Amino acid sequence: MNLQALIEDIRQQVLPFYDRGQVADYIPALASVSPHQFGFAIHTLDGQEYGCGESDVPFSIQSISKAFMLALTLQADGEALWRHVGKEPSGNPFNSLVQLEYEHGIPRNPFINAGALAVTDRAISHFGDAHLQLLAWLRNEAGNPRLAADEAIAASEREHGDRNAALAHFMKSYGNLDHPVETVLDHYFHNCSISMSCLELARAGLFLANHGASPQTGRQYLTRSQAKQVNAVMLTCGTYDAAGEFAYRVGLPVKSGVGGGLLAVIPGKMSIAVWSPQLDARGNSVLGLEALDRFTTRTGLSIF
Ligand code: DON
Repeated sequence: MNLQALIEDIRQQVLPFYDRGQVADYIPALASVSPHQFGFAIHTLDGQEYGCGESDVPFSIQSISKAFMLALTLQADGEALWRHVGKEPSGNPFNSLVQLEYEHGIPRNPFINAGALAVTDRAISHFGDAHLQLLAWLRNEAGNPRLAADEAIAASEREHGDRNAALAHFMKSYGNLDHPVETVLDHYFHNCSISMSCLELARAGLFLANHGASPQTGRQYLTRSQAKQVNAVMLTCGTYDAAGEFAYRVGLPVKSGVGGGLLAVIPGKMSIAVWSPQLDARGNSVLGLEALDRFTTRTGLSIF
């Protein structure tokens, strides 16, 4: 199969979907991104790399950071992590408050904002500087020592972060955060604000396709079982209240972000990153979903 020709063809097929969604603007610094951009990158376990469109343009990875943060924290915390956060789909928007009260401050899963804040709190307990730990890890795996958070986006997130602050305070009131709310938010916002390209994301996500071991650096980050667990939570919770639609149309573990990026994993084969900034009503990239749907449909490569 000629993967390069295939992704270029898929790019042509999805470009007409421009302007069916909107760039996220609830974080003002994200709203300034040029909307008509599309990148697609693949990294295979045998070391092949494919990219087309804006696959080398850095963008704000936003909630895709939550997949990497979960992996790092699960590695350090093991099963104890699941005392602080659940692993069930929420069926609610990513920044919803309501479920948290019914469930006594334990977020449904690590990918809604409340869950990511709980994971970040555990990461601070283990690593001290959770953001630097994630950044160092991503730099190593993506092969780019200059990866960094975009400070303008981090500041904008903090300035408009009342909802996340409310979630954090609420969890703290239930005793489900060990560290000060401001500290947890600061690490969380900086993680979300990291800029990466599709090519870098696909490289960094490859360990999830390889049973937890990085083909680039040879390091075993997760046990086989933990890699299965992270992929399972990505499938069921990685795209929030659209996880059913993604499973139906794409059939892969996927993690999305409001910067318009999507990281998808084909266990045993490859990692895929797609990016286009215009989002649907549930906060997922319109062109990204169209592209992943076409990719798995045309190749027959999905977990189903
Ligand atoms: O906290 C927020 O709202 C953003 N930093 C991240 C949200 C996000 O990416 C949800 N993804 N689809």
